[in-house]
Amino acid sequence: MKAAWYDRYGPADVLEIRDVPRPEPKDDEILVQIFATSVTTADWRFRASKFPTIFWLAGRAMAGLFGPRKNVLGSEFAGRVVARGKAVTRFKGGDEVFGFSTGLGANAEYISVSEDSPVVKKPATVGYDEAAATPFGGQSALAFLRDFAQVQPSRKVLIAGASGGVGVWAVQIAKHLGAEVSAVTSTRNVDLVRSLGADHVIDYTKADFAASDECYDLIFDTAGTTDFDQAKHVLKPNGVFLPLEFGGREIGQALLSKITGGKRVIVGVSSDSREMLEYLAGLLETGEIRAVIDSQYPLEEIADAHRRVESRHKRGSVIVTISPRALEVAKAA
Ligand SMILES: NC(=O)c1ccc[n+]([C@@H]2O[C@H](COP(=O)([O-])OP(=O)(O)OC[C@H]3O[C@@H](n4cnc5c(N)ncnc54)[C@H](OP(=O)(O)O)[C@@H]3O)[C@@H](O)[C@H]2O)c1
Repeated sequence: MKAAWYDRYGPADVLEIRDVPRPEPKDDEILVQIFATSVTTADWRFRASKFPTIFWLAGRAMAGLFGPRKNVLGSEFAGRVVARGKAVTRFKGGDEVFGFSTGLGANAEYISVSEDSPVVKKPATVGYDEAAATPFGGQSALAFLRDFAQVQPSRKVLIAGASGGVGVWAVQIAKHLGAEVSAVTSTRNVDLVRSLGADHVIDYTKADFAASDECYDLIFDTAGTTDFDQAKHVLKPNGVFLPLEFGGREIGQALLSKITGGKRVIVGVSSDSREMLEYLAGLLETGEIRAVIDSQYPLEEIADAHRRVESRHKRGSVIVTISPRALEVAKAA
């Protein structure tokens, strides 16, 4: 099968398309023929070995100290089950699925994943591209807003970076949880974030939310452009600053503010689970949330997809389409 392969860290040119053996599903695994996958900010960080300073060693140890341990990147995938292990009970051949592979490997024509991993049936109303655009940002937004910050109805939530890979989901999940949402974005994305349900939109090229009189219960910074010292001026007395990107300073502030009480910092790392994906699939099916696709590239042009992600100005997700002819056949069947 074809896969986007890299065996050294570096610029997007380190990626090449190679023929590699197709994985064989183990007893508890399904083999998925992938029609759509993505390049996320995590894929870019792994490929370029670009980890926040304090986590550089940990990131590098995870990715491979002297070179990549996993040669095929990609965590998000959507496709069709084409084979299954003998112990699999949740899926059958032909099922349309989407999922998140913690062990990467999704930038390829096929992937084998455990039926107990975050992989669920794709709602029929949702396309493969949209489904593949969901797990990374959707699960991150759920983990941070629902689980870490426990957003309640009527809370005033500000989301910085509202048009990014996590931001577009954060706006929609915060609305789903009943919050009053203010979204910070640049001029060209104002209409987009409003269409996702934001109650108020702040154009960061024209106004600084941290300098206004408006106060929030939660500030979720997905862009890494604010810090607690700025945010605390516009946090309510027990308000929370929730940075998606964080370093030693934020960890210290989180520990200290846990002791002192009052305005707090919460830091955390996104999780993934079948429960989260099922939750998201339900909301996709009813149309309460939707994917935002920045751009689509064929697998052969995945280096360009990485360059787009590295710009840090994408809108939602960058999708990589795979096996277009096989997809036509599947659609016709
Ligand atoms: N802790 C975790 O578990 C976790 C989980 C997922 C991701 N992350 C990290 O979180 C970060 C964000 O990921 P992502 O995929 O959402 O990134 P992304 O898709 O690159 O989005 C970045 C966003 O930042 C916006 N932005 C740039 N400058 C801004 C400013 N001054 N004010 C407000 N927004 C601004 C951009 O919007 P414009 O184009 O409008 O400027 C863009 O939409 C990455 O560093 C990723 O590694 C962490």
